[in-house]
Amino acid sequence: MEKNLQKAMNEQIRNELYSAYLYLSMSVFFEEKNLPGMAKWMRIQAKEEVGHAMRFFDFMVDVGAKIELLEIDKPPADFTSATDIFEKTLEHEKKVTAMINKLVDLAQKANDNPAMVMLQWFVNEQVEEEKNATLILETLKMVKEQPSATVMLDRELGKREE
Ligand code: FEO
Repeated sequence: MEKNLQKAMNEQIRNELYSAYLYLSMSVFFEEKNLPGMAKWMRIQAKEEVGHAMRFFDFMVDVGAKIELLEIDKPPADFTSATDIFEKTLEHEKKVTAMINKLVDLAQKANDNPAMVMLQWFVNEQVEEEKNATLILETLKMVKEQPSATVMLDRELGKREE
């Protein structure tokens, strides 16, 4: 694998694992606020992110690229509300989308067809990720986190399946 692409994929394994850590931190906030549905939603989100990291990991194994596991930063824990959390979720996913686009760019420059095909899955996934976070955020803004509406949304998000 071309060196720049390999470096960026190793960084992306780290970034996806950081995402898992970030969402796990958000789930702690919801557990503490007695919003178990949102906590579960974030827990599942964290698991998905580990799955994303493993997609990169497995692809690199398959093509014989050199895997290097990098240090993962401590995630923030200073959240103030559900709205704050979903604003940060959307913001984070937009950053991830930019990272995926950069990877696509590098794969194209390297003429790496297998990487381009593999990355297409992530291009689609990021559309979903941003859509989901936007929908929840807009709902929270609409109901202004009134207790009864927040409890209903919590129940709804708790229906998320793995
Ligand atoms: Fe792995 Fe939420 O993007």
